[in-house]
Amino acid sequence: MSADQVTATAPGRVNLIGDHTDTTGGLVLPMAIDMATTVTGRPGGDRVVLTSDTEPDPAVVPLGDFDPADLAPAWARYVGGVVAELSPSTGFEGHVTTTLPVGAGLSSSAALELAVALALGFEGSTVELARLGQRAEQRASGVPCGIMDQLASAGGRAGHALLIDCHTLDIEEIRVPEGCEIRVIHSGQPRALTSSAYGERRAALETAEAVLGPLRLLRTNDLASAAEQLDDEVLLGRVRHVVTENDRVRRFAEALGRADLHAAGQLMGASHRSLRDDFEVSTAALDDLVDRLEASDGVHGARLTGAGFGGCVVALTEPGALFEGWPVEAAASAGRRIS
Ligand code: GLA
Repeated sequence: MSADQVTATAPGRVNLIGDHTDTTGGLVLPMAIDMATTVTGRPGGDRVVLTSDTEPDPAVVPLGDFDPADLAPAWARYVGGVVAELSPSTGFEGHVTTTLPVGAGLSSSAALELAVALALGFEGSTVELARLGQRAEQRASGVPCGIMDQLASAGGRAGHALLIDCHTLDIEEIRVPEGCEIRVIHSGQPRALTSSAYGERRAALETAEAVLGPLRLLRTNDLASAAEQLDDEVLLGRVRHVVTENDRVRRFAEALGRADLHAAGQLMGASHRSLRDDFEVSTAALDDLVDRLEASDGVHGARLTGAGFGGCVVALTEPGALFEGWPVEAAASAGRRIS
């Protein structure tokens, strides 16, 4: 490797519990997985030019003033989002490799953003890196996403989940107990509809907060009074999901801490049903996969993970439980760090 060659790697993530809570400053519990994106190349020139193993056309991004959302092909927008946020003084020429499936809900875009930022010389804290990635993602995709994906990728540590308070951005590392595995299984359905439905859900939560105040401050015993104030069943369902999900994240982190895998699994099932019935981001394929996993030997619990509308399910299992016949994508407990 020559002196000025740079290699930067960032992992994808799976969320164990706490979905659609980050945008209202709630609690999430993701972890990095053993699949990652790597950028290799050299600084130089007046553009950022990246080729990719998985994309037919390169990303060619200028350094000056531009709108990342105008770039083509689509993956160039994520590179462009990072370049626009980082404003590097010199260009870069390199290549991207990844073991992450795109559109599976494992945050391949967050991994790309962070690997590109690190390759382009980003210097700063974990939280600053995640914030830069989040802004890049929002500019590239137009989706008003929260910070979970980028913070999970930036702060991931093998064998640990991250309990993140998305208001303070405090991170507590929670060790995954011995004697269990966390597996990611694809539903076979690519994620769809995410951007419009995600934006609608976020807008609904803002409407609810205008009436109820910050949802992160509500507890489950505030829900009866929320129901009286809202007088809108759909909106109330969205709120009920967020408030009960924050509660489940707390209880799940405690259950993991005392290695109570049965309790943790039950909370995952309750989370899935809340995402299905109250937040309405599940699909028949995801529900069916969760049902089949819950009925399988050695599975403590399972739920959709991430935004929903297709993609992957996460399962907490006894060691080796899903080795035969299941399309397991990734093992989370072996997650890797950015480098
Ligand atoms: C997407 C977003 C995250 C988060 C999840 C749902 O992955 O990028 O910020 O909101 O959906 O939990």
